[in-house]
Amino acid sequence: PPVPHPSTAAAPDPATHPKLERDVTNPLLFECAWEVANKVGGIYTVIKTKVPITVSEYGDRYCLIGPLSYKTAPMEVESEEPADPHFAATIDSMRSQGVKLLYGRWLIEGNPRVLLFDTGSQYTRINEWKADLWNLAGIPSPPHDHETNETIVFGYLVAWFLGEYVSRQLTTAVIAHFHEWQAGLAIPLCRKRHIDVTTIFTTHATLLGRYLCAGSVDFYNNLQYFDVDHEAGKRGIYHRYCIERSSAHCADVFTTVSHITAFESEHLLKRKPDGILPNGLNVVKFQAMHEFQNLHSKSKEKINEFVRGHFYGHYDFDLDNTLYMFTAGRYEYRNKGVDMFIEALARLNYRLQKSGSTITVVAFIIMPAASHSYTVEALKGQAVTKQLRDTVTEIQNRIGARLFEHAARFHGDQKAIPTPADLLSEEDQVLLKRRIFALKRNSLPPVTTHNMADDANDPILNQIRRVRLFNDSKDRVKIVFHPDFLNSNNPILGLDYEEFVRGCHLGVFPSYYEPWGYTPAECTVMGVPSVTTNLSGFGCFMQDLIERPQDEGCYVVDRRMKSIEDSVNQLTDHMFSFCGKTRRQRINQRNRVERLSPLLDWKNLGIEYSKSRQLALRRAYPDAFSGWPAEEDEEHEEYSVADKLFLNSVPASPKLRGVATPGDLGTLTEEMQGLKTSDYGGYHAWPKGHEDEEDSYPFPL
Ligand code: UDP
Ligand code: G6P
Ligand code: GLC
Repeated sequence: PPVPHPSTAAAPDPATHPKLERDVTNPLLFECAWEVANKVGGIYTVIKTKVPITVSEYGDRYCLIGPLSYKTAPMEVESEEPADPHFAATIDSMRSQGVKLLYGRWLIEGNPRVLLFDTGSQYTRINEWKADLWNLAGIPSPPHDHETNETIVFGYLVAWFLGEYVSRQLTTAVIAHFHEWQAGLAIPLCRKRHIDVTTIFTTHATLLGRYLCAGSVDFYNNLQYFDVDHEAGKRGIYHRYCIERSSAHCADVFTTVSHITAFESEHLLKRKPDGILPNGLNVVKFQAMHEFQNLHSKSKEKINEFVRGHFYGHYDFDLDNTLYMFTAGRYEYRNKGVDMFIEALARLNYRLQKSGSTITVVAFIIMPAASHSYTVEALKGQAVTKQLRDTVTEIQNRIGARLFEHAARFHGDQKAIPTPADLLSEEDQVLLKRRIFALKRNSLPPVTTHNMADDANDPILNQIRRVRLFNDSKDRVKIVFHPDFLNSNNPILGLDYEEFVRGCHLGVFPSYYEPWGYTPAECTVMGVPSVTTNLSGFGCFMQDLIERPQDEGCYVVDRRMKSIEDSVNQLTDHMFSFCGKTRRQRINQRNRVERLSPLLDWKNLGIEYSKSRQLALRRAYPDAFSGWPAEEDEEHEEYSVADKLFLNSVPASPKLRGVATPGDLGTLTEEMQGLKTSDYGGYHAWPKGHEDEEDSYPFPL
């Protein structure tokens, strides 16, 4: 019979061929995600920030697998030859069959090994693989869905690699950890082909959840009742849904990033996760508190610089009495709660005006959308203010020179102190006037910095138009929509995202659909207060851990039990009371927020990943563990959690709930399987069924 190609060949059936005894004490770990060395959104942040802690556990037994993007990889990865001969032989064999790949070190902290596959090099096999996928798993694949095609080619390449690798390397157990459906396809392939690896699937959202929430569906009250196949079919994503669902079902261990997504996965993917792996960050502690406060000041000055330029001609507010609020992320208008943010800004504007407040709020929306670069107006604003600054510097130098000359010449004389006329020449005055006249402008400062590809239909712009926040002088709330991610090389708002966040006063993320939500977590570790919701994994996590998160600068808007109207008002209240804080209070609040960072540190959360790997090994190689003690969860009882996490913190530590550690909330055990749905998230009951009231969009309410 013809020998099957290694990319589709099955390993011997374990029913007839006894499984190899692999060493489970020092396993190898492959972690596979579409966002390895390829930034799209939050999964990139998970992978990248987790590397140091994983490398500290696995060293060179750890290797990441991702897609090869010729745009970014050359800057992120340094190629090298693999030291492991089996690994080298496997990639040599794949290369000899036309697979293009890059192996080397990802140039980030931890310097991990990384293997990137060029999917484009194997599109010639796509039809063969699609047919195989249909025969093997009954998963259909329409011809023109690019994302699915990429997923299939990538999945087949990864399964090919793993299959060939474990047929050469026969002694050590291999854990393959996959993130999200786009990297998950190799899981059913490994299962069907009996590839001798143990698999973990971590989902960071569900496809259906994202799609349903983006429409106008009362998602959370109906989660139990959706006809999943029908809903997926209606949205043209049935084939993607099949890939996601089979990844979840075929994995030895299935996890998600939060309780809220666990609940969702149970109903939409029909498998209850084995546990939660909360997302951490690589927290870098400063030696002293004031260092991050200084960084705030420095970064804020850069934002001030932008604001002076952007609002030229209408710059009639005091920057010392101005607050910067922002939201940021991928452009998911409803899911990320931008609709609610803009509505609340309009209400905040009204309340500040009515109360006679002198505070100005500049609200930034940083969300990439299709655009044709910067507007002339936005560029001009920066140019005219720069010219003014240059002219003032020149004049200042000339005044200095004249002052010196005057004092030196007329010393001992009454004329030694010059008059203003002696210092500011006619010529300088004319020059200055010209620059000042250049600041005149007939239009209001634009709400967006870019020429939008579809200005008339852009949901954010339309919402701004609806609430009429046009940066008028009388408006206390101004808006700047920057439809691109930030970068320090940009000619406008030339700051890196981190720098920008540090310079702001409040991050606002009123998400409706947010499995985790890195943006508020990043604010927290940078000491910037933020608002989230109890529909975001991060918001629930903080509520579960801390008794009064709002006292610590982590405001959580209730979008679960309240009507939309009430949630908008709650958000407005938070922003309004934030505007009432003195500088001193803001500084104190930043200190309190920053002290929460141990809760989000991989050094504390990474343990959940370790547990998931242990569970995966135990499930795949139960015999290897016979005689080992059962897994223990409770290792450390001498200290209370607050003691452990905030051991050396001087001001009163935040009051944590009960004895839970971040880990306990995500505890990954077989027992999780026994939990009732209402047990998710510990403290906050989930809706039990349909509720009549259905909130409708769009605003106004
Ligand atoms: N981000 C960025 N530049 C920006 C805005 C956001 O790099 O200008 C990053 C941010 O740091 C965060 C990620 O994008 O790590 C968004 O992740 P999140 O989990 O909030 O949302 P996702 O996009 O995964 O849904
Ligand atoms: C930091 C700096 C202070 C500065 C303050 C401004 O704390 O260390 O010197 O006064 O930021 O805070 P604000 O909230 O007004 O931007
Ligand atoms: C997803 C989610 C986001 C989460 C990220 C990392 O993209 O949308 O909420 O933070 O994954 O887990």
